[in-house]
Amino acid sequence: MLIYLNGRYLPLEEASISVEDRGFLFADGVYEVVRIVKGKPHLLQEHLDRMAAGLAALRIEFDGIEGLEEVTSRLVEENQLNDDATLYLQVTRGSAPRKHAFPAPGTPPTVLAMARPFTPHPASLYENGVPVITVPDIRWSRCDIKSIALLPNVLANQKAKESGAHEAILVRDGVLLEGSQSNLFAVKNGTLITYPACNYILAGITRALVLDIARRLGIPTREAPIHLADFDRIDELFLTGTTTEVMPVVSVDGRVVADGKPGPVTKRLLEAYREEL
Ligand code: PDD
Repeated sequence: MLIYLNGRYLPLEEASISVEDRGFLFADGVYEVVRIVKGKPHLLQEHLDRMAAGLAALRIEFDGIEGLEEVTSRLVEENQLNDDATLYLQVTRGSAPRKHAFPAPGTPPTVLAMARPFTPHPASLYENGVPVITVPDIRWSRCDIKSIALLPNVLANQKAKESGAHEAILVRDGVLLEGSQSNLFAVKNGTLITYPACNYILAGITRALVLDIARRLGIPTREAPIHLADFDRIDELFLTGTTTEVMPVVSVDGRVVADGKPGPVTKRLLEAYREEL
């Protein structure tokens, strides 16, 4: 597998970074996961725009964002990724002796890109839906930045795995915000509801696409909190994400959502999303 690191294309086994990289020492960086469909990156510009916004928020200087499009094409070509694949992009504040404050101006960022074949989740999960659990959201209050500091997400996701659940939903003040690696939608009385894009969630690229598809299909949408206390009034629940697609949720902490089957709005959106892909 050929990867891209700091301007060079090289085999994964030969790629190395400094132990003083600020990504390694401080999780001082941002990342993106992009879907590649039949050899073409899906919504790459949207992912690059979000990465640029994250870099600006963290004041990491990197002027090569647009060049990552060319890097992506080359990785797809060299690795012959003509089918389903994922692209991982990461930019950190570079390498310097460990001090909390920024390194000297001009310290080059560390830029990594790698793509590998991707196997989507089994069809049965989309047909039958998945169970999720809830966990308290212990993250910082800039969840809109796709930072590589993912410990709360890692712990939440591991807890889901150990509980036999597909995903963990992060809950703040009784509100179901998003999953450890996905966004969350509910359907109530025919209206699609998802938490507003603000500092408490990552504004998913898939989330935006699903909202757009819903509007095109004439499904009413509302960006508002989904309260755990309102659970009994939820008709449908689903997750969205680059690798998650549109995943029906049929139980939360063992409580069954409506009739325990993927609902009609979720099915329509999944179908439309797949067509879009
Ligand atoms: N995760 N919320 C969180 C916390 C995420 O980590 C992700 C994506 C999403 C969905 O965003 P998008 O639709 O742009 O993929 C929402 C990626 C896939 C990951 O960490 O692997």
